[in-house]
Amino acid sequence: MNINDTVKLTTLSSKGGCGCKIGPADLRQVLQSLSPATVNPNLLVGLETNDDAGIYKLNDSTALVQTLDFFTPIVDDPYSFGQIAAANAISDVYAMGGTPITALNVVAFPIADLDKQILAAILEGASNKLEEAGVALVGGHSIDDKEPKFGLAVTGTIHPDKIRTNSGAQAGDVLILTKPIGVGVLTTSIKRGLLDETEIERVTEVMASLNKTAAETFDNYEVHACTDVTGFGLLGHTLEMAQASKKNIRISAQQVPVLPRVKQLAEEGAVPGGTKNNFNYLKEDVTFASSLDQIDQWILCDAVTSGGLLAAVNESDAKSLLAELKDKNIDAAIIGSVEEDDKGHINVEE
Ligand code: CO
Ligand code: CO
Ligand code: CO
Repeated sequence: MNINDTVKLTTLSSKGGCGCKIGPADLRQVLQSLSPATVNPNLLVGLETNDDAGIYKLNDSTALVQTLDFFTPIVDDPYSFGQIAAANAISDVYAMGGTPITALNVVAFPIADLDKQILAAILEGASNKLEEAGVALVGGHSIDDKEPKFGLAVTGTIHPDKIRTNSGAQAGDVLILTKPIGVGVLTTSIKRGLLDETEIERVTEVMASLNKTAAETFDNYEVHACTDVTGFGLLGHTLEMAQASKKNIRISAQQVPVLPRVKQLAEEGAVPGGTKNNFNYLKEDVTFASSLDQIDQWILCDAVTSGGLLAAVNESDAKSLLAELKDKNIDAAIIGSVEEDDKGHINVEE
C-alpha cells in the first residue's frame, strides 16, 4: 500500500473509534490483585489516586514526572494522528503542573503491509508537536504488528512543592474545562464516514492542540486540583477528582462546551462502546437532572482523546483565569463547582 492510496487508518483498528483504554472497572480489578509494592519515600505520586502521571523526587527542588500513552489510529491522516498522540501523551505532564522535557516513541506498525511513508508521517507529526512543546525526542521502540498503534512515553520535571494532583479540590472551588468534549462521538463518526472535511479538521485541531498554554496560565492562579480529560470522559475524570479530593462536585450540563453536531450524531448511533462503559461504571456515583436524556448523559461520559485540562480553582481567581484563557484563544468554560461533602458524588444539573 502507498501513502497516496486512500488508506483509511481508522479502519485498521479492530476496536471502536476511540483507541479505547481498558475500562476503569477492569483496570482497577487488575491493579488490586497485585501485591502492594514496598513504599519508596521518593515516590511522591504513584498508582493509588489515578493521577495522570507518576512523580519521583530526585532532590528537594526537582522531581521527575513520567507518563506513557498510546492508542490505535483515531483519524485517517497519519501526520495528524502523530500530532494528536504526542499532544495527548505530553498532556499528562501539563496536568500535573510539570514541564515536559524528553519523549520516547512507542510504535506498532504493519511494516510489510503499509507504506513506510505512513509511519514516517506519523513520526513527523509527533516530532512537530514535541518541537512546539519544547520536548526533545530521545529515542523509542517499534514492533511489527498488524494493527498500527502509536504513542509516547514523556518525562518532565517539577518542583516537589508545586505538584498538581486530582486530590486537592476544595469546597467553594470553581471547575474550569479548557477544551470542548464530544471527541469520542466525532472520531467514531469519522470511522463511519459521517463527517465532512471541515468537521474532521475541527475535531483534529481540538485533539492536536497542546495543553501547554492552559497549564502555564494556571501557574499564575490558585489551582487546587487538576487533571486532563481523556478516556474515562468528562464525568469519569471529574469523579476521580471528587473521590480523590473527598468532595462532591456539581456540574452544569449546559455550561459544558460540546463540539458541533455531537448530539445529532450520538442520536444517530455514533456513541462509542467505551463511552457507554464509562457511563455504566459511574452512573451509581452521579445524579443527573431529570431533564437530561440518555444521549446527554452519554455525551458527558464520552471517551475523549487528548482532551482539555479540568481544574478546581479558587473561586476568587476563576473569572480572571477564564478571561486570560479566552484572551489566549483557549476555548475554556466554567462548568461547575466543588461542594463540602465527603461522598465523592457528582450532581449534574441541567
Ligand atoms: Co491524563
Ligand atoms: Co495518560
Ligand atoms: Co528497544
